[in-house]
Amino acid sequence: MGKWWKKAFGYQIYIRSFKDSNNDGIGDIRGIIEKLDYLSYLGINLIWICPFFKSPMDDNGYDVSDFYNVSSDYGTMNDIQELIVKAHQKKIKIIIDLILNQTSDEHLWFQESRKSKDNPYRDYYIWAPPRYINGQRVEPTNWASFFGGSCWEYDQQTNEYYMKIFSRKMPDLNWKNPRVRDEIVKMTDYWLSMGIDGFRLDAVAHLGKSDLMDSTYQTQERYKPEWEKYSNLPIVHDYLQELNQKVFSKYDIVTIGEVGGRALVEDALRYVSPKRRELNMVFNFDHNWCNNGWNRKKGEKLKIDVQAMKDIFEKWQTGLQGKGWNAIYWLNHDQPRVASHYGDRDYFHESAKMLAVCMYFMWGTPFIYNGEEIGMTNPEFKSIVDFKDVSIHNQYRINVIENKQDPTDFINYVSYSTRDNARTIMQWSNDEYAGFSNDKPWNMVNDNYRIINVKDEIVDKDSILNFYRKIVDIRLNSKYNNVIAYGKYQQLKKEHQQLYFYLRQYRTKKILVICNLTNENVKIDELEYKIINIIISNYERKEIPQEFAPYEAIVLEVE
Ligand code: NOJ
Repeated sequence: MGKWWKKAFGYQIYIRSFKDSNNDGIGDIRGIIEKLDYLSYLGINLIWICPFFKSPMDDNGYDVSDFYNVSSDYGTMNDIQELIVKAHQKKIKIIIDLILNQTSDEHLWFQESRKSKDNPYRDYYIWAPPRYINGQRVEPTNWASFFGGSCWEYDQQTNEYYMKIFSRKMPDLNWKNPRVRDEIVKMTDYWLSMGIDGFRLDAVAHLGKSDLMDSTYQTQERYKPEWEKYSNLPIVHDYLQELNQKVFSKYDIVTIGEVGGRALVEDALRYVSPKRRELNMVFNFDHNWCNNGWNRKKGEKLKIDVQAMKDIFEKWQTGLQGKGWNAIYWLNHDQPRVASHYGDRDYFHESAKMLAVCMYFMWGTPFIYNGEEIGMTNPEFKSIVDFKDVSIHNQYRINVIENKQDPTDFINYVSYSTRDNARTIMQWSNDEYAGFSNDKPWNMVNDNYRIINVKDEIVDKDSILNFYRKIVDIRLNSKYNNVIAYGKYQQLKKEHQQLYFYLRQYRTKKILVICNLTNENVKIDELEYKIINIIISNYERKEIPQEFAPYEAIVLEVE
């Protein structure tokens, strides 16, 4: 208990799409400075800013070419310093992305590394010779890349392959090399000494790789998606303990690992258990795909898989509580918009507000993703040019150009899941370009900005934005702040097919959250608790109804 980040409410900023201050169509650091008043108005006290380092922007900044410099797209080092000071004046802490798994191929280390096998930087990356099968040159292993195709890229200069589990412009660093780890320690320390308050550690699960042996998966694909070959291996924990001991432990900061690759609660505990001295919490992806999205038929509406979602929340809430800390969120820049994904366009406001209640009264440090608080939705993609994400373009090349998939089918299929859904321009007002810039933005502006935007929602007391503000305020400033931050989580009526019930209890205070995760009217049985107060409800109830309306959500103080 006691650590500041246990009572923080986070807000993630995808800098490229957030606010453009100099009208070049690209969001920037001064844009964030301009919007600090808005963030204070929303009430959050922590921001996570996506990468702003120097980069050729193959993957919008997750491909860093200089860790000690800011991309000219985004501003200068002075801007960052000013942002830190001004945010701190408003009691907003700042965490930044720490990109440890890879650099850009334009980073000086890689430029050197690829020159020759005996270059001093050669072992900064993972190189391996080709195999020859029936006289054909073949990659060192058959492992897949997260972005499509092989996880290896051939480099003619030295006739070897380098590993890249993301794009070909993002070679993986070789963490076995102590010199690489020293460089990372130095860089991490540099940013902390500038005054930032912690990190979201990108792709941290993948720092360790297993021996270079083929996957034995019997799948159709040429490259096998056996992510376990480079996810959550024991060695990652040695690396993190070293980083913690040499840097993190010297500052009062928060560290949150992005832990994918099919992580289990047991894996997560190895990162966040305080006695292991690694990280404070992790973002897991388990709840990201709990609907009929992947299997939907043409024209079929998306629908939450209620039982699957409740089971996942149960697993993570009870699996970590008392053993480590938790991070909670609906989406980030790698997922579809939650209002489209789990919300319902026929009950747009009700479902968006219900989702907020459902998530943000749970246990763990919450993160809102920019635009979520106004109910931003997925855009409509019409052709491949509407997509900006490198991974979609890779998949397009493989599926449509090389394997002749029908382009319309391809676009229908990826539109549901693409990361571009979350990366459209932040909708500030109903002015041209949604008030983001005076110039044409780098990415799509969703047409619905005329009705879904910050400016209009500020003045509408029933808006999604004002509902989010209430939740942030209750969570941070009300008499319920301790029970929400520290209260024990317990799910009730686990088998209920429409409603999600959970109780939070801290000392004698108890709150009960009830959410209807469906578009149906649902009768509810008498509660076995005495109701003291209705803390918040999306149907503005004065008393608990006998029948819950579609997507109704209510939070009660009970005894
Ligand atoms: C996870 C980030 O969230 C994602 O956007 C990025 O493409 C990969 N890591 C690679 O850094």
